[in-house]
Amino acid sequence: SQYQVAVIVGSLRKDSINRKLAQALIKLGPAEFSFKQLQIGDLPLYNQDDDANQAASVIRFKNEIKSASAVIFVTPEYNRSIPGVLKNALDNASRPYGDSAWTGKPVGILGASIGAIGSALAQQHLRNCLAYLDAPTMGQPEVFIQVKEGFFDEAGNITSADTVRFLQGWMDRYVLWVKRQVQ
Ligand code: FNR
Repeated sequence: SQYQVAVIVGSLRKDSINRKLAQALIKLGPAEFSFKQLQIGDLPLYNQDDDANQAASVIRFKNEIKSASAVIFVTPEYNRSIPGVLKNALDNASRPYGDSAWTGKPVGILGASIGAIGSALAQQHLRNCLAYLDAPTMGQPEVFIQVKEGFFDEAGNITSADTVRFLQGWMDRYVLWVKRQVQ
């Protein structure tokens, strides 16, 4: 594909609703875009002492980000912020100073929660980190998904046609926005 998108899910949980959302979203992408889900669960806890000698998993993760045209985060909200594992991934790939993988990467953000605000505060905190990291984020449309019983079927498909249409609209906007960013 012409555009490679790195997809990062902010949950390590096997049955994560955010991973299911990411998988459903990926299916809505056009042929010229390919999507790769990146692993963040094997990254060490960030320690600045390791900056000169980063772990193999950190080097791999940074290379995956650097070689991608763009990034999509799909994150849950933990205690009104992003999960620690996601912050850890942001920190690991931001260093050593002057060699951040995030600089200039166009980023799309979505999230799902069982709660009514649908990860809105986590997403806002993530935007704050990415602004500092100089990674442009698409402002609209925002995606705050509340997942209730029956949201996904057994195969992981989203059961509401309205929600699928809404996500297709997000993907179409994201595709146009990424193309403008990477020109
Ligand atoms: C949560 N959850 C949650 N939900 C929310 O809307 N706002 C919040 O601040 C929190 N805080 C929170 C903290 C911790 C430690 C856990 C484990 C959970 C609930 C959360 O939305 C729910 O567990 C989701 O299923 C998590 O996403 P994944 O792992 O299914 O993708």
